[in-house]
Amino acid sequence: MTLTVLRAPADMRRACEDARRRGDSVGLVPTMGSLHEGHLELVREAKRRARFVLVTVFVNPTQFGPSEDLARYPRDLDGDSAKVAAAGASAVFFPEAAAMYLPGDETRVRVGALAVPLCGQFRPGHFEGVATVVAKLFVLAGPCVAVFGRKDYQQLAIVRRMALDLFLPVEVAGHPIVREPDGLAMSSRNAYLKADERVRARGLSRGLAAAARLFDRGERDAAVLRAAARAEIEPLATSIDYVEVADPERLIPYGQGRVGDVTLLAMACRIGTTRLIDNMVLGEEALPAGAAKE
Ligand code: PAJ
Repeated sequence: MTLTVLRAPADMRRACEDARRRGDSVGLVPTMGSLHEGHLELVREAKRRARFVLVTVFVNPTQFGPSEDLARYPRDLDGDSAKVAAAGASAVFFPEAAAMYLPGDETRVRVGALAVPLCGQFRPGHFEGVATVVAKLFVLAGPCVAVFGRKDYQQLAIVRRMALDLFLPVEVAGHPIVREPDGLAMSSRNAYLKADERVRARGLSRGLAAAARLFDRGERDAAVLRAAARAEIEPLATSIDYVEVADPERLIPYGQGRVGDVTLLAMACRIGTTRLIDNMVLGEEALPAGAAKE
């Protein structure tokens, strides 16, 4: 099947309307491009759930802080088109920033308590930018289903809450994290890692695995679980933003005391200058494959 390449928001809206008129359900996969197997799994999942799958590729300026990597974020439009076509997408949307944020633009989607902990502490305004652009994409595409990765666990929770609060008629589906054979969660930002940093990046999934092994043996002390994860990451990371155990729905960190039988373990750290995140839901998900120490 040929891939339709859309650049203007009005054309994207029309392509989705045409699909619905033909009786095809619309599935949406929002991305920032530089696509890897993790993104492509979302496309395949969307294709299982909808006939017409639209992948959006937009490096959204409003979700980047002033000292973040907006300018150097990897871009590969030709490669991305070929990959999404092979994964079953019907169309790809590559808008210009000036088309997504009109001259005189004033409106943002403000997110409450879910945007405060974890990455919210370190990336002020980030989730407001995410919620705003995802709302725009939902309104333009009118998808029946949108697929997001659990790699960005907090983002998924925020998008779900936004769809609920704004009565957006879309099912927000979450997809498990896709990992490299050694356990590293796939990310467009992994392309920044130098060879030695790529090896050190294993610290994140090893940290998850170390805490998960304790959890599986019955450990429920928040400080012990955090410390087990940190012990793996600290020797390898340049700096750690956070290693937290938190309520998997409200994302509130446990602090001291006992964690629940289903607990989010989430982390963000820097390897060199590259910021990486990872997470798992203890008590629900299996150990990240490849993350066990040889
Ligand atoms: P981006 O980082 O490109 O990710 C696009 C989607 O792919 C997100 O839903 C993310 O969780 C998912 N994803 C990335 N790596 C993954 C992996 N290893 N396994 C499973 N899913 C993975 O997230 C964004 O873009 C942006 O914030 C966006 C939602 C597009 C709004 O601008």
